Amino acid sequence: MDYDATQKEVMYAEYAKSYDVDRRIAVGEPLLKERAQFLVSKLVNRSYVLDLGCGTGMVLEHICAKNPQGLTVGIDISAPMLEQAKAKLGASNRVLLVKHDISRGLPFLDNYFDYIVASNVFQEVPDQRALLSETIRILKVQGFFAAMMVCLENTTPANIAYSRIAEGYCWYFKIFSNMKQMVYESGLKIIVEEQRFAKNPMASLVEKENKMQFSGFNTIMKRIAQEGARPEQVSQGHYKFIAQKAR
Ligand SMILES: C[S@@+](CC[C@H](N)C(=O)[O-])C[C@H]1O[C@@H](n2cnc3c(N)ncnc32)[C@H](O)[C@@H]1O
Repeated sequence: MDYDATQKEVMYAEYAKSYDVDRRIAVGEPLLKERAQFLVSKLVNRSYVLDLGCGTGMVLEHICAKNPQGLTVGIDISAPMLEQAKAKLGASNRVLLVKHDISRGLPFLDNYFDYIVASNVFQEVPDQRALLSETIRILKVQGFFAAMMVCLENTTPANIAYSRIAEGYCWYFKIFSNMKQMVYESGLKIIVEEQRFAKNPMASLVEKENKMQFSGFNTIMKRIAQEGARPEQVSQGHYKFIAQKAR
């Protein structure tokens, strides 16, 4: 199915109602904190920072804490997600929240930001190479790009089924090796990187314990099972790195 920005907005308007609670159930507070701290680990105060797909501001909070005298920009397609970020961060003339579809390019000047964060967002757009090249365009030389890219470990039948079915919901999960290759081919200089995979935590959470409120993942897991693949064998994880724009 083709990318549909309206479908995204409808889906995230629903997910926004329970996003923070569901993330705490799915990932756990300590791990969410650890990931956010990793993403801001090279950030220094007085920087121009952009958070791509900032959502409810879970990472923005950490960015603002380290960058109180800089400028922090959050960009996201979903107004309800941004509203939550605004409530979390409070009024500040040092934080700017922008509603924009990042699959249509990034509305900023070349070499503008010192630091760009992308947490759990690259899978949201169909052309991830184009998003990466836009990200590099607006990053200053020697600036940092810190990312956590959700991806699939390998090409097992369950993973292939998951990736294909998720595309119907406009989620584009790449295989880890392809994701890494894309990043390496971009010319970014990798400073630190790590990948981690687990047999699908969503499947166990959604199907066995039924705790999460957002039903999108539940629907995908059910469809994987209907197609004869095994949802519990989906091996999803992330590729996490901090890189620098070398030239
Ligand atoms: C999985 S959430 C991650 C939110 C946040 N970065 C975090 O780590 O908690 C993905 C976010 O990307 C946003 N998003 C999805 N597609 C987008 C697009 N095309 N342009 C801008 N934002 C998008 C969603 O609204 C959502 O807030």
